[in-house]
Amino acid sequence: MAISVTRKAHFNAAHRLHNKNWDEEKNKEIFGLCNLPNYHGHNYELEVTVTGEVNPDTGFVINLKFLKDVIKDTIENRFDHKNLNMDTEEFKNLIPTAENIAIVIWNLLKAKLNPHHQLKITLYETERNYVTYQG
Ligand code: NI
Repeated sequence: MAISVTRKAHFNAAHRLHNKNWDEEKNKEIFGLCNLPNYHGHNYELEVTVTGEVNPDTGFVINLKFLKDVIKDTIENRFDHKNLNMDTEEFKNLIPTAENIAIVIWNLLKAKLNPHHQLKITLYETERNYVTYQG
């Protein structure tokens, strides 16, 4: 009997969508405003959902204090107020779209969690645009 627990988090970051293998014209055509050379920012809203069995000793699937601290240490400290393209190892050679950011976050968090738990990442880039990734 699995049940899901979700923790919300937030970070601000700048990015530029740009494919180094394309010329300026093609980048502009595909990425539009997101290709502007001087970067732009987003207020990313993150939802981390962990699914598993309730531990009968605690009544928890996962201790939310632990999950909060893992998200803070692993994701917020790494990406908050950063230029993703310039200031992070993860996006030196990976286009920082919402899709790729969600996949990177999933991989970073998965390594810190109980392997029996399922992990789902929901990442809002704007109020209307969001992606979900479950591995
Ligand atoms: Ni953008």
